[in-house]
Amino acid sequence: MKIGLLGFGVVGRGVYEITENRDDMQVTKVLCLEDIKLPDAEAVKDIRAIVEDDSIDTVVEAMGGLHPAYEFVRAAMEAGKNVVTSNKALVCTFYDELLPLVKEKGISFRCTAAVGGGIGWLSELERARRVQKLVEVGGIMNGTCNYILDNMTRTGLTYDEALKQAQSLGYAEANPSTDVDGIDTWHKVILSSNIAFGVTVDKASVPVAGIRNITAGDVEAFKAHDMVCKLISTGKRVGDGYSVYVQPTLVKAGELEAAVPMNYNLITFLGETSERMSFYGQGAGRYPTAYNVVEDLVDVLSGKGFYAPYGEAVSADNSGTMRFYVRGGWNGPVEESWGEGVVTAPVAVSQMHAWLKENPDAFIAAIKE
Ligand code: HSE
Repeated sequence: MKIGLLGFGVVGRGVYEITENRDDMQVTKVLCLEDIKLPDAEAVKDIRAIVEDDSIDTVVEAMGGLHPAYEFVRAAMEAGKNVVTSNKALVCTFYDELLPLVKEKGISFRCTAAVGGGIGWLSELERARRVQKLVEVGGIMNGTCNYILDNMTRTGLTYDEALKQAQSLGYAEANPSTDVDGIDTWHKVILSSNIAFGVTVDKASVPVAGIRNITAGDVEAFKAHDMVCKLISTGKRVGDGYSVYVQPTLVKAGELEAAVPMNYNLITFLGETSERMSFYGQGAGRYPTAYNVVEDLVDVLSGKGFYAPYGEAVSADNSGTMRFYVRGGWNGPVEESWGEGVVTAPVAVSQMHAWLKENPDAFIAAIKE
């Protein structure tokens, strides 16, 4: 396998290093805007040097961002090259454009590192869906948010202090809003749902609430009730439809999710036959992420295409109800007071997210019963 590598940052450099010692694959060209010298690969600055090179059969996209990553990936696919990427924003945003092209060209397209970094999550979903109906996917999919919430809970840091630490450790995206407002998790749960259920979830129908407004006072109130706050994603079958959303969620102190430390991820599927299966590991970082990219390259060598068929468009139905902790202006039915917040009567997930849009300074956390 001859590889054209797009990007030589955190992930790209890791992929280069891991593949250097393998004899079944070789990075022959690296697209990088900076001047770099590599012993075994040619550094190029123009994408055409890779797309028009017939000796390159596979492109690894490790640039991040939507543009020009999308145009470059598309050009590689048009040229009949297999593509491996760790870019969840790209795959989620352009699912409708890329998946039909993958089918038309008969190429391999893998993105296991896009959800869960080094965890073999999407690759296991691909296996799991072959022998059973998947009922639910989701969990803790963002290391930065987990780092912040874990430190606020265990060491009493304020939100700002914990965010600064996460940034200095290099977990956070370039724009931390992508992490703390839940966008990164939103991309990951939409992609996971598409693959698990073989559908194309309408992104606009998936609401997201992040952790930006959580305070030390909220965390104290949760502790007093033996609860821990985590940013949790959910994608599940409900009747003939699907419910998909991302929101801070209070889990009981003894549950697996409550114990996830630092920047780790814990992602779970529920299958009709296997029941609960959970995957725990490093959701970010150079070598875990690059490891999964190389796993994908091995899968390309073995002829694997995409994880699931490109399925029908569906809109999420989030009319199911939950109780929520809310701090900041809720005037609907209330069951009890917790510190500066209240616990609402059961309210539809869609309704609570619509209310939050009108009240952006509030903090909400669903209560997992
Ligand atoms: N910023 C992401 C995280 C990186 O914190 O999990 C991996 O997607």
